[in-house]
Amino acid sequence: MAQAPREIDLVLSGAAEVATPLGDRALGGEALGALDVRHDAAVAVDGGRILGVFPEREVRERFAPRSSLSCEGGTIVPGFVDAHTHPVFTTTREDEFELRTRGATYVEIAEQGGGILSTVRGVRESEREELTDRLVVHLDRFLDAGTTTVEAKSGYGLTVADELKSLEAIAEAGRTHDVDLVPTFLGAHDFPPEYREAKGAYVDLLVEEMLPAVAERGLAEFCDIFTESHVFGLDDSRRILTRAKELGFGLRLHVDQLTPLGGAELAAELGARSADHLEFVSEAGIRALAGAGVVPVLCPLVPLYLRVDQEAPGRRMVDAGLAPAIATDFNPGSCYTQSMPEVMTWAALRLRLSAGECLTAATLNAAASLGRAHDIGSIEEGKRADLVVLDLENHRQLCYEFGRNPVLAVVKDGRVVRRRTPGAA
Ligand code: NIG
Ligand code: FE
Repeated sequence: MAQAPREIDLVLSGAAEVATPLGDRALGGEALGALDVRHDAAVAVDGGRILGVFPEREVRERFAPRSSLSCEGGTIVPGFVDAHTHPVFTTTREDEFELRTRGATYVEIAEQGGGILSTVRGVRESEREELTDRLVVHLDRFLDAGTTTVEAKSGYGLTVADELKSLEAIAEAGRTHDVDLVPTFLGAHDFPPEYREAKGAYVDLLVEEMLPAVAERGLAEFCDIFTESHVFGLDDSRRILTRAKELGFGLRLHVDQLTPLGGAELAAELGARSADHLEFVSEAGIRALAGAGVVPVLCPLVPLYLRVDQEAPGRRMVDAGLAPAIATDFNPGSCYTQSMPEVMTWAALRLRLSAGECLTAATLNAAASLGRAHDIGSIEEGKRADLVVLDLENHRQLCYEFGRNPVLAVVKDGRVVRRRTPGAA
């Protein structure tokens, strides 16, 4: 006698394609673009987890879903993982965007008191509730664009109290919002105005007070830093990050973004989880990252937005065996977008990655950079049911088309949290 079908929570059926990387670690070299692509396939979900990808007929025979999601001939991919964002702020900087279109540089604007410090003024004046409310609006937009996990940095407070307030806003938003948040402490984002003439004292404050205060409260998993010639040099960076490591933080670094300082080599030396930006990375830096297994997190929209004519050497990194992730770098100054599909188009055009490479970089490798590749980042049995249904015939159109949100539906932990009628805007 045939077995009765098993009752399960959800089936996603009617897709033209299910496309995903496979595995529980960051993929590099040839493996980066080697997706598992299935046609005539459905995804079965129960208890917030993926049961597997099966032929449509098998799913009909084996499972009795309590609900189903019709994918309308679209494409199912893993929920996007944005591994680099600065989403805790209340004021925007469109004035600086316009100054750059007229020729001002990012560093010039920063040196005149704009840039990061302008956002710091807004955060210091805001109550924690305001920060949380604004963050929730940002998270809604991430989810609209198919992102189900967001790494979220502090870094616009730059006092003990204002950094804690920012991290508490991340914790608070994370408790209620469908998007999963990974908190990162970025107190070493810039020198605050009150320490401009006493930079060493701010480094002391970071090491002696801020890092211990954040660690004690368990408010961040990672510690990040802006290692750059006009902010934290290599020696300060080494001191701050060594202390962070002792306190149990994973390390992420903004490195070699505007000048070739050798930050990638430092990230490798310290065993960082990720080295981000890397527009000016040297060949030695690429080799060091490969040797230490550091995930490069590339942000291809940032040079475009800053009008800097230097791209991270994405193709060279992949050819050297590195396993890159791609990210928005969402922030009010150097990249104001929450769209990973947009990032994928630019990663293809500017970093010279294939569509398959972009998808792995935007999902599994990004998850690996956050220490979560065992749990998210691919469509495989046992992983969280974080899925995106795209109004696209195949995953390659994710890079090919841009400027329209292609997300038809988003499933987070097995629940349908976004649903749009095909054809509707
Ligand atoms: O990743 N490089 C440092 N931090 C951000 C920019 C932050 C800002 O300008 O507000 C970045 O580009
Ligand atoms: Fe950044």
